Amino acid sequence: MRDYLEVAVEAAKLGGEVLKQSYGQVKEIEYKGEINIVTNVDKRSEKLIVELLSSRFPKHSILAEEGTDMANPSEFKWVIDPLDGTTNYAHDYPLFCVSVGLEKNGEMIAGAVYQPIFEELFVAEKGGGAYLNGRKIQVSRIGNLKQGLVSTGFPYDVLENPGQAMKDFSTFVDSAQAVRRDGSAALDLCYVAMGRFDGFWEARLKPWDTAAGVLIVTEAGGRVTDFQDGHYSIYKDQVVASNGLLHEQMCMVLQRARK
Ligand code: IPD
Ligand code: CA
Ligand code: CA
Repeated sequence: MRDYLEVAVEAAKLGGEVLKQSYGQVKEIEYKGEINIVTNVDKRSEKLIVELLSSRFPKHSILAEEGTDMANPSEFKWVIDPLDGTTNYAHDYPLFCVSVGLEKNGEMIAGAVYQPIFEELFVAEKGGGAYLNGRKIQVSRIGNLKQGLVSTGFPYDVLENPGQAMKDFSTFVDSAQAVRRDGSAALDLCYVAMGRFDGFWEARLKPWDTAAGVLIVTEAGGRVTDFQDGHYSIYKDQVVASNGLLHEQMCMVLQRARK
């Protein structure tokens, strides 16, 4: 198992170096949708990570955001976001990361999220706790949403379907101490894990956004569910992550925003 986490870290750092080297320079930007972009840096990071993982574990499956879908008959699947926070990256806003998660028989067993500008490396292994730069991390102890700092993100179809996302946002503005929208779901999850945020919710995320981060949150003592407080899977499109103490309150806010 150690080997898997070590390779996840190596892969996240390899991608992170690519992001750091090109940070602040002109990028080639393509539009996947009206506001959904991809840069040459996303693609270069993915290429290097996929080459590394497939050379170390040629039999494993690999799923990554920018087109890699290597489906092998294996119990192991790497789920990768080579650059989470592309919009931030393209605007030289320094919140973005590389996220590398490993699933075994449908369960996340290892994850690494690397933020190369602040040099923050978040890691977790199933059953082994969560760590930031080698130090054990834990979720916060805030039990009242009015004292909680929570974060969210907006899906790329927010312009076509602004209704529910805005209702959720405004209901949390009324219910929490403050709400942030930082632009990297993987980092949002890690910030819940280490107590910077007390909770996070978002709809319509993809497996690569949350694969590593949800393991890091649960291994730090937090809770992750869908909006109804039901079972979460990285293939579901709703996620609520919290320190556990705020979880029911957060799910209630989301129910209230749906009445
Ligand atoms: C996005 C970020 C953002 C979230 C979007 C994601 P990307 O990922 O995580 O915070 O709100 O839903 O798609 O496109 O930058 O990898
Ligand atoms: Ca992403
Ligand atoms: Ca991405």
